[in-house]
Amino acid sequence: MARKKITVVGAGNVGATAAQRLVDKELGDVVLVDIIEGMPQGKALDLAETAPIEGYDSRLIGTNGYKETADSDVVIITSGLARKPGMSRDDLLKTNAGIVGSVTDEIMKYSRNPILIIVSNPLDAMCHVAMKHSGLPKQRVIGMAGVLDSARMRCFIAEALNVSVENVTAFVLGGHGDTMVPLPRYSTVAGIPLPDLLPGEKIDQIVKRTANGGAEIVSLLKTGSAYYAPSAAAVEMVEAILKDKKKILPCAAYLEGEYGINGLFVGVPVKLGERGIEEIIQINLTTDERSALQRSAAAVQELVNVMGK
Ligand code: NAI
Ligand code: 2OP
Repeated sequence: MARKKITVVGAGNVGATAAQRLVDKELGDVVLVDIIEGMPQGKALDLAETAPIEGYDSRLIGTNGYKETADSDVVIITSGLARKPGMSRDDLLKTNAGIVGSVTDEIMKYSRNPILIIVSNPLDAMCHVAMKHSGLPKQRVIGMAGVLDSARMRCFIAEALNVSVENVTAFVLGGHGDTMVPLPRYSTVAGIPLPDLLPGEKIDQIVKRTANGGAEIVSLLKTGSAYYAPSAAAVEMVEAILKDKKKILPCAAYLEGEYGINGLFVGVPVKLGERGIEEIIQINLTTDERSALQRSAAAVQELVNVMGK
């Protein structure tokens, strides 16, 4: 079987850590692209020299161009600026839109039908940029946010109940921003709904901490944003696609009427397989949950409108 080819654009914290996780799991050969001369080449070489110790046979190439990315199966786009303390994700909007747009143009010159996983912020708006520039069908442009946000929620739930993280599932819908919608009703511990296990007050704290999860790390790191969990989240999505796992994960998907939302990327549960988003799963929401999702979608729409100006 031919090896899969995965390109990671942006060899910074998220991109380089994603590359490391991809080869550790031998999901395919990896091309690491960045504009900084020598940096992706150096990181790719370092990871290639790790292979004999860790025992992976994935090949790695680092480059400042796109020729080497030809015929990629999956492309993770992480290029852009990261949030600094006091800076909102939305402050990044225009700069990162320019970067994500030009990177997508370059990718499409060399790969005919890749699946794009977008990581750059503001996430949902960057998915729009990538879809517009790539001309790819909506199933092949997918935003990474819900996997990360729900992993944060799972971590906090496991900590509160002193149980294994493996017992905990959680769902976070909506845009990747302050308006995201964590869903305690759909969060379970060994199949038991969270509201049966924790008092409402504690659940509210967890919900708030989840929505503030990115900012909490930024304020601790001071010189950048989270990358261990974000890279793991992007790689879980790549694995679901390349192994055709049909895994249900919360991802930013282009909605056309689902959840009453039209023409917008918003985080919802999707089924990921070899064709990308193979299904958008529609779950029942209470009136409050539905209006929270609508509010979150409105925040995404605002950014899309700003970009259109
Ligand atoms: P970073 O600053 O460590 O890495 C970004 C890299 O992109 C840098 O190496 C930079 O040289 C490169 N870059 C900039 N312009 C480029 C271009 N035109 N072509 C190729 N490479 C280019 O930042 P980090 O921490 O890796 O974060 C990357 C992005 O991902 C940020 O926008 C951040 O906000 C976002 N992010 C999103 C998350 C999510 O849940 N969706 C989670 C974590 C980060
Ligand atoms: C995060 O949630 C910065 O969006 C990034 O960590």
